[in-house]
Amino acid sequence: MSDGSDFPAMRPEEFLEAAKQHTEWIATYFENVREFPVLPSTAPGELTKKLPVKAPERGEPISDIFAEFQSLIFPALTLWNHPRFFGYFAISSSPPAILAEMLAAAVNVNAMLWKSAPAATELEQVTLSWLRQWLQLPEEFFGIIYDTASVSTFQALAAAREWADPESRTKGMRPGLIVYLSEQTHSSAEKAALALGFGQENVRKIGVDAGFRMRPELLEAAVVSDLAAGKRPCCVVATVGTTSTASIDPVPAIAAIAQKHNLWLHVDAAYGGSAAVVPEMRHILEGVEQAHSLVMNPHKGLFVPVDLSVLYIRHPEVLRRSASLSAEYLTTEEDASAMNYMDYGIQLGRRFRALKLWYVFRYYGHEGVVTMLRESLRLAQLLKQWVDGDRDFELAAPVELSLVCFRHRAGDEFNRRLLAEINASGKALLSHTVLRGSYVLRFAIGNMQTREKDVRETWRAIQEIAARLVDESLDASKVKAAR
Ligand SMILES: Cc1ncc(COP(=O)(O)O)c(C=O)c1O
Repeated sequence: MSDGSDFPAMRPEEFLEAAKQHTEWIATYFENVREFPVLPSTAPGELTKKLPVKAPERGEPISDIFAEFQSLIFPALTLWNHPRFFGYFAISSSPPAILAEMLAAAVNVNAMLWKSAPAATELEQVTLSWLRQWLQLPEEFFGIIYDTASVSTFQALAAAREWADPESRTKGMRPGLIVYLSEQTHSSAEKAALALGFGQENVRKIGVDAGFRMRPELLEAAVVSDLAAGKRPCCVVATVGTTSTASIDPVPAIAAIAQKHNLWLHVDAAYGGSAAVVPEMRHILEGVEQAHSLVMNPHKGLFVPVDLSVLYIRHPEVLRRSASLSAEYLTTEEDASAMNYMDYGIQLGRRFRALKLWYVFRYYGHEGVVTMLRESLRLAQLLKQWVDGDRDFELAAPVELSLVCFRHRAGDEFNRRLLAEINASGKALLSHTVLRGSYVLRFAIGNMQTREKDVRETWRAIQEIAARLVDESLDASKVKAAR
């Protein structure tokens, strides 16, 4: 019988040496991050071709693996943790949160039950209570961590279905339950409705105003019309910080309609929620005290790495009814007195995500977090002024948070080329959307290392590329005219 000495274990000294090299690499990466292109120059399948088809038969030295991470994997990554990553919603993985992730992986607990991970369960309760206080949410809001906002919203809609149709758990869902979104709601809400069986025909997309906010009078009209048609209005999703433009739906007016018609109100503050930690920005959450549920994503704005999304819910017992189903092998003596998070979602196994949130809260404190969030908001206002002051460009939406949507006046094809060129330059990365039929560039500020010079130099690069593209198209039309 083997005593284990011939097993392929990593010795503590080897682990320590490798850990040192890895953390040195991370520290150097943070220091020199601007030297790396934000977008890699790689084509689909290119990396796969460089990697063996089969996993190795025999183990390899960690130094070889790490060397290949540096030479093959890293150069084929889009660098989200880069101060000039301005695409989608810019995010940050902060050094304290990275250390917490290392520890979470080392202890590798599974936070499905209190018993299976007492401290992970209680730290989740404590950090979500701290966050609830920072956001000034009602004390009765129960918090739970999931991986993404898509899953948080899925669980919120599952609770809404349970609330409106308690028999759905045993008999399956009856047809005719209606979900109301806006034309600007993130696709994850419609996806949740699809997965839960509401049916796409029962999802209403309410029109928006000039500022891309849901129009409450259209919501009211849609609910009244559905009631007249014998349907059962179930749930409305309002958004604080929509994905395309960061617009903020009028939550108080939507809440009044929800209350009148007994609708579940879910607020998607996945992106906007973080900004509300800044005291002078708290007004963006006005009305959420009336909500039944609210999602916000610390992995978008609160300096923790992907993934960590938080759902706050007023009636946790409804969520529990929608999701709990135990088995003998999961029962514990503490069930009557302890929190078992597995009862509040479809997943059983759960990562120790609260640890990184705890590290961030403690390392930066409220003051540090607010300082960083405020800077992103300031930089967005600065960029807004620059865009406003350039007659070749126009703002495409109000700047509510730290996202600026704008376009060059030369049309869709021009803006497409402009985006492709700035991204291909590797200097910065922006993304796009379409607003009222027009192609628009999105410049999202949010990485904790972003400084004014990053925004200024990126804006300059955009202006320079635009000027060159204008010259080139003038030259092309001259050649055409001469023919
Ligand atoms: C407003 C909003 N809601 C939900 C989501 C989905 O987030 P996740 O990737 O965490 O599912 C996003 C993603 O950007 C978003 O902007």
